[in-house]
Amino acid sequence: MSFAHNEKTPDLRRLAVFQGLQEGMYAMTHMTDDQHSASRYSVGGSENEYMDEQQTVLKNKKGITDLQALFVEEEKSLAKAYESLLDEVRSDTPITSELIRYAHGVVFGDLYDWAGRWRTVTISKPGVTWPPPDYLNDAMREFEREVLLTYPVSSLTTDQEFCKALGHIQGEFLAIHPFREGNARTIKLVTNLLAVQTGRLPLAYDSSDAGRNRYIEAAKAATLKEYDLMIALMKDALNALKPS
Ligand SMILES: Nc1ncnc2c1ncn2[C@@H]1O[C@H](COP(=O)(O)OP(=O)(O)OP(=O)(O)O)[C@@H](O)[C@H]1O
Ligand SMILES: [Mg+2]
Repeated sequence: MSFAHNEKTPDLRRLAVFQGLQEGMYAMTHMTDDQHSASRYSVGGSENEYMDEQQTVLKNKKGITDLQALFVEEEKSLAKAYESLLDEVRSDTPITSELIRYAHGVVFGDLYDWAGRWRTVTISKPGVTWPPPDYLNDAMREFEREVLLTYPVSSLTTDQEFCKALGHIQGEFLAIHPFREGNARTIKLVTNLLAVQTGRLPLAYDSSDAGRNRYIEAAKAATLKEYDLMIALMKDALNALKPS
């Protein structure tokens, strides 16, 4: 599948290079934490598709059974995905629900059979149970119509508009939580593509414990359709790389 709609428009890598973007920017956006422990989710329904028998790590194509080793592989895959998506996505590629699914497939396709597919189990964390799997197709279609497509690149001229869009997009997406794992990394990647489309640098999220907790609190608020915390966080992440 290709998202190169118009070969004449510059690809994002060229734009990113133009902006002095360094390779390996994934490191800025990635949370190095133990949240990848799949056991942190409570799962309803059969987990056979996802977990090994000991219920320790996600079943993966490389047969990795050590959580830390799996985490390292996920990081490498994320870095490669940034590179290939910056090559493939162009400045006029619409940010759609299909592109999100595709991006998840690019990030996690070497590791998981279910990469690029909506989850088939109900998952929850303390204080939140995300929508059941049957609802995800409709929810993501509605998300595309009511959220994604309301923020075309041409409308994101001021940083204020841009951060409002990103806070709304990330908050609403995380409230749907359509993938079994990797939701935050995927939506940060896709909104970083949007950032580069608008001529901005990717965002630099605070990866300290406090920064991670703040992101989770913002995601919790977004499940109640309150996006202010997420918007404020986007502003800080956008400004983090700007010279003071
Ligand atoms: N209790 C909660 N209520 C609402 N949202 C939550 C809660 N706990 C975590 N989240 C959200 O879920 C995200 C984690 O989702 P997931 O594990 O699918 O993505 P990920 O890419 O692995 O995330 P991360 O990089 O944050 O580990 C968090 O970053 C946060 O946005
Ligand atoms: Mg996770």
